Amino acid sequence: MGHNQLSITDQRTGAQYEIPITDGTIRATDLKQIKTSPDDFGLMTYDPAFLNTSSCRSSITYIDGDKGILRYRGYPIDELAENCSFLEVAYLLLNGELPSAAQLDEWVAQVKRRTMLHETSKKFLEGFRYDAHPMGMLISTIAALSTVYPEAKNVHDAANRRKQITRLIAKMPTITAYCYRHHFGLPYIYPDNDLSFTENFMNMMWKMLEPKYVANPILARALDILFILHADHEQNCSTNTMRAVGSSQADPYVSVAAAAAALSGPLHGGANEEVLHMLDVIGSKDNVSAYVKKVKEGHGKLMGFGHRVYKNYDPRARIIKRTADEVFSVTGLNPKLEIAKELERIALEDEYFVKRKLYPNVDFYSGIIYEAMGFRPSLFTVLFAIPRVVGWLAQWEEMITDPEQKIARPRQIYTGHDERHVMAMAER
Ligand code: CMC
Repeated sequence: MGHNQLSITDQRTGAQYEIPITDGTIRATDLKQIKTSPDDFGLMTYDPAFLNTSSCRSSITYIDGDKGILRYRGYPIDELAENCSFLEVAYLLLNGELPSAAQLDEWVAQVKRRTMLHETSKKFLEGFRYDAHPMGMLISTIAALSTVYPEAKNVHDAANRRKQITRLIAKMPTITAYCYRHHFGLPYIYPDNDLSFTENFMNMMWKMLEPKYVANPILARALDILFILHADHEQNCSTNTMRAVGSSQADPYVSVAAAAAALSGPLHGGANEEVLHMLDVIGSKDNVSAYVKKVKEGHGKLMGFGHRVYKNYDPRARIIKRTADEVFSVTGLNPKLEIAKELERIALEDEYFVKRKLYPNVDFYSGIIYEAMGFRPSLFTVLFAIPRVVGWLAQWEEMITDPEQKIARPRQIYTGHDERHVMAMAER
C-alpha cells in the first residue's frame, strides 16, 4: 500500500479504490470513479461554505490559523508592517518579490499616474442620494468603471491586465474620498501626486480651506500599516467571489465590484462598522457583562470576535493594538476603547468564548482606530476594501494564469420534487 494514498472501500459495492494524496489533499474528481452502477454520476463531496475544501493552489498568502501565522509571499505580516509601505507590500503581493528602490519608484509612479477619476465617473457618483451608504456607492462606481475602460475585458492580455490592476489600486482612495465628500456636499479634491498614497487619501478626504492640508505623519503611517494588514487574506469570502466571478472571464472591474459586495456583509468586512454600533449599544463599561450574557443566550454575536481560520489569535489584531497606541497618542483616547477592552477581557475569560476559540479579530480594534482618526463608521468597510483590492487582483491574476482553473461551477445535492406536470390554473 502506497504511503501517499487513501484506500477506500465502498461498503455499498465492496469495491476498493486507491486515491492519491498530494499536498494533504485528495482530488474531489478522483471520487467520481466510485460508483454503484455504470450510470451512477459517481461520489461527490458535500461541503457547504467550503469548510474543508481547497479551491485553488496559491503562492500568495500563507495562514496557519492554529499558530496565528500570516505571511504574504513568505514574509511575516509583522515584519512587513514594521518595515514596508503599503505600496511596497502591494508590489510584493502582485509580483511575488519585494521591489528594489528603482522598481518601487517606478511602481509608485505608475499608481500615481492613475489616481484621477474620469469626470463622468464623478457625475455618476453625484447621482447618489446624500445619505447613500458609501459601500453601495463604491461597489457601483467600481462596476461602472468597466464602461470607462472597455478594453479591460481582454483578460488574457498580461500588459492590459497590469494596467487595469494599477488603475483599480490607484482609484480606490479617490472614489472613497468622493463618496465621503458627496455626503457632506463638499467640493471634491483632486489627487495630489506629490503626496504618499495615504497622505494623498487623507488630503482628498479632509482638505478644507487651508492652502495646504498637512496629514499628521503618525496617522498617515498608521493608515499605511492598517492597509498592509488588510491587503490579502487568502481564500476568504470576497476573494473567493473575485475568483468565482473572474473565472467566467468577466472584466476585473465588475469582478472587483462583486468581491466588494461580498466584503460588505456584516460577517466579513462589514464587521468593523458593526463593532462600533455594538459598542454604542453597550454604551458603558458597566453594561459589558449584561451584553455578553445576552450574546451567550443566543441574542446576536460579539462583532469583531471569531474567525473561520484563526482559532488561537488573529496576528493582525496584535499589530493593530500597537498601532492604536500610536494613533491615540495623537488623537487622544477614543472613549469606546474602555468598553472594547472590558469586552475583550470578559470574553477571553468566559467559558463560552474560550470553548469556541473566539478571539478578537482584525475588525475589533480597526474601527476604534479609524473613528479616532476622524473616519465615520459607514466608511470603515470601504477602508477595508481600499487595500483588499490588491489581494483580490493578485488572486485574480493568479487564477487567470493558472492552467488548472476553469469556470467555477460547483455541484449540488438536489432536494426538490421529482418530475411533475403543470396543472391548469383552475385546478391548482
Ligand atoms: N459571537 C458569539 N458567538 C460566536 C461568534 C461571535 N462573534 N462567532 C462564532 N460564534 C459561535 C457560533 O454561534 C457557534 O456556536 P455553536 O457552536 O454553539 O453553534 C460557534 O461559535 C462557531 O461559529 P461558526 O459560525 O461555526 O464559525 P464560522 O467559522 O462559520 O464563522 C465568523 C466565523 C467570523 C463568520 C464568525 O465568528 C462571526 O460571525 N463573527 C462575528 C463577525 C466578524 O467579526 N466578522 C469578521 C471576521 S474577520 C475579518 C474578515 O476577514 O472579514
